[in-house]
Amino acid sequence: MTYAAITGWGKSMPPAVLANADLATFLDTNDEWITSRTGISERRISHVPLSELAYVSAMRALAAAGLNASELDLIVVGSCSYDDQVPNQASGLQARLGARNAASMDVNTACTSFLYSLSCANAFIRTGVVKRALVIGGEIITTFMDWQNRGVAVLFGDGCAAVVLEATDREEGLLAEKLGCDSDARGTLVVEGMGARYANMGRMLGSTNWIFEGPEIFKRAVIGMSGACADVLAARSITADDIDLVVPHQANQRIIEAVAKRAGVPMDRGYVNVHRYGNMSAGTVPVALVEALDEGRVKPNATLLMPAFGAGLTWCAHLVRWGERVTPKDTTDVELPPCDKTALELVRIAMRAKGIQL
Ligand code: UT7
Repeated sequence: MTYAAITGWGKSMPPAVLANADLATFLDTNDEWITSRTGISERRISHVPLSELAYVSAMRALAAAGLNASELDLIVVGSCSYDDQVPNQASGLQARLGARNAASMDVNTACTSFLYSLSCANAFIRTGVVKRALVIGGEIITTFMDWQNRGVAVLFGDGCAAVVLEATDREEGLLAEKLGCDSDARGTLVVEGMGARYANMGRMLGSTNWIFEGPEIFKRAVIGMSGACADVLAARSITADDIDLVVPHQANQRIIEAVAKRAGVPMDRGYVNVHRYGNMSAGTVPVALVEALDEGRVKPNATLLMPAFGAGLTWCAHLVRWGERVTPKDTTDVELPPCDKTALELVRIAMRAKGIQL
C-alpha cells in the first residue's frame, strides 16, 4: 500500500503587523471587543502578492524535505486570492521554482482550500499517479477586505505555508479525511466583488462588499468541524485520547475551544496562533502546522487532527500520522522582498486605490 508522507514544510509571513489598536484608528471598534470575541490581537498585511509568499514557502518546504524543485510531479495551490485566474497560480509557481516536471493546479474552497488540496495531492500519490507533490495554502485576503466593515475587517489577515508530500510504504501522512459542504448556507459568507460576474455590474474588481453572518457561520463551523472530527476518528477506530495534537483552522479562539471540547480533546493538546495572525483563510492550517513543528509540539509518529471550515460553507477534518523526522533536512536563505511601509499605510493605500479615504 502506498501512503503520502509529509516530508517538508515551510511558511512565509508578511512582516507588516496591523494591531487591534491600528484598526481602532479608523473603525468603531476596540481591542477589548476583538480579543474577547475572537482571541485576535494582530494580523499581517502583505506588501506582495500571493505568488511571492507561495514561492518563499515552497522554497523552505523543499529545503526541509531535501528535494529539488525538478523532482516534483505535482503542485497544488489552495487559495481564493490568486494573482490571476488565467493562467493559474500553480503554473506561475512551477515557472518560478523551475519545477518543470510538475502538473500544476489550483483549488478554491475558501478557508478549507489547503486541506482540500492536501486531499487531492494525497489521492494522486496513493493511486500512483505522482510520487512527489507540493501543496500550498495561502491567502492575500486583505486585498479584498472591506476595511469600512468592522464586522469582517478585524477578523482576517494574510499568510502562507507549504508542505511537501512523498510516496512511502510506511503507514503515515493522511490516514483519514472527511469533507463536506453546507451549500444551503452558502449565502452566509459571500464576498461580492471577487468574481467575474461583477465586471458587468460596474463594480471594480477587488472593491468588495462582504455578506457575513458571523453567528450563523460560527454555529455551523462548530457543528461541521466537530462532526467531521468524529467521523475521521471512527474511520480509524480511534478515540480523542489517541490524538496528540489538534491543528485546527484558526478563525476564532472560541470556535477552536468549542470544537476541541466537542471532539473531547483538551486545549493543552490544541495548537492556537489566531492571536498572532487572525484568520488567514487557506493559510491558517499550514502556518499553524509549521509553527507547531518549529515549537517542538509535533513529536515523531504523532497523530494530528486538522479540522477546518470556510465559505461554501465547506468543512472537513483530516487525520495525519507524522513520520520519524520533525526537523528540516535543510534550510534556504530565500526571503520576501523588504517592506518599507507600515501595515496601516498598506491598508490606506489599498483603500485609496478603490477610491476610499480612511
Ligand atoms: O473562516 C470562516 C470565516 N468565518 C468566521 O470565522 C466567522 C465566525 N463567526 C465569528 O467568529 C463571530 O460570530 C464574530 C467574531 C464574527 C462575531 O462575534 P459574536 O459574538 O457572534 O458577535 P455578534 O456578531 O453577535 O455582534 C455582537 C455585537 C453587535 O452589537 P449589538 O447589535 O449587540 O449592539 C455588533 O454590532 O458586537 C458588535 N460588533 C462589534 N463591536 C466592536 C460587531 N463587530 C464589532 C467590532 N467591534 N469589530
